[in-house]
Amino acid sequence: MQDSFIERAGDWAEVPRRIRAGLRLPEPWESRFGALSRTSTTRCLVVGQLGQSLDGRIATPSGHSQYINGSEGLAHLHRLRAVVDAVVVGAGTVRADDPQLTVRHVEGPSPARIVIDPNGSLPATARAFVDDGIRRLVILREDAPSPAEGVEAIRLPEVDGVFAPSAILDALAARGLRRVLIEGGAKTLSYFLSTGCLDRLHVVVAPVILGSGIPGLALPPIDHMSEALRVPMHAHSLGDKVLFDCDLSGQAAEQLGKPGA
Ligand SMILES: NC(=O)c1ccc[n+]([C@@H]2O[C@H](COP(=O)([O-])OP(=O)(O)OC[C@H]3O[C@@H](n4cnc5c(N)ncnc54)[C@H](OP(=O)(O)O)[C@@H]3O)[C@@H](O)[C@H]2O)c1
Repeated sequence: MQDSFIERAGDWAEVPRRIRAGLRLPEPWESRFGALSRTSTTRCLVVGQLGQSLDGRIATPSGHSQYINGSEGLAHLHRLRAVVDAVVVGAGTVRADDPQLTVRHVEGPSPARIVIDPNGSLPATARAFVDDGIRRLVILREDAPSPAEGVEAIRLPEVDGVFAPSAILDALAARGLRRVLIEGGAKTLSYFLSTGCLDRLHVVVAPVILGSGIPGLALPPIDHMSEALRVPMHAHSLGDKVLFDCDLSGQAAEQLGKPGA
């Protein structure tokens, strides 16, 4: 049967719904987001994102990162948010940026907001926790104080001082959140990557050089290039930025060892 929507190349409006229905997308969206429509009923499908400079930094030394990727990068990030059930950030990102984590620059629904805040140290006034009708969850240690009213608590045990990313994903899947965006920052994303918990990684590189600052990823050190993680990848042009869509689905967890610092 003919699918007229597929003929309307460039039309974004229906994409978030079609991804959730597992339907094919018009270009350029099928190439960029089609892999995110293939979920399973038993586990999460997880995409990480990094907006970085040519020299691999996601923020200046002071933590300033808004907006390293300009309007095209921001629109891409909001498209990612619009097609997932949940967006995850670490406490460091909330401290540095106080992000809203909503979809504002493109059409589409805002995802549930998940903040990993082991000690419950973030203020209830953080914008990620604001009651705007969107589901909000915080991942806490078992003995951390309770979150603000309306924010759901997920309490997890720590392993070597951190939550296992797989346990975070299991907890989200158990709550019906199966398509997950790990938005950052560096530590949070590195934990998920180093434990083999990412299916895809979207890296948007902007033509800017910072020369210093926070690197996008910090993994356990390797000695030899043969130990480097090489991934199947497709590059897409986003104006003067480049999106590298990396396929990590074949990555074995044990290949990279334990989480980095
Ligand atoms: N350019 C981009 O794409 C982008 C995107 C997002 C953020 N950023 C930038 O990244 C910087 C923040 O990155 P960051 O690496 O410092 O911090 P982060 O990754 O945002 O947060 C790290 C913190 O989150 C908690 N956490 C995360 N995963 C955990 C786990 N598995 N187990 C236990 N705790 C966990 C810990 O909180 P505690 O510290 O409370 O222990 C940890 O120190 C900011 O400058 C922000 O602007 C850039």
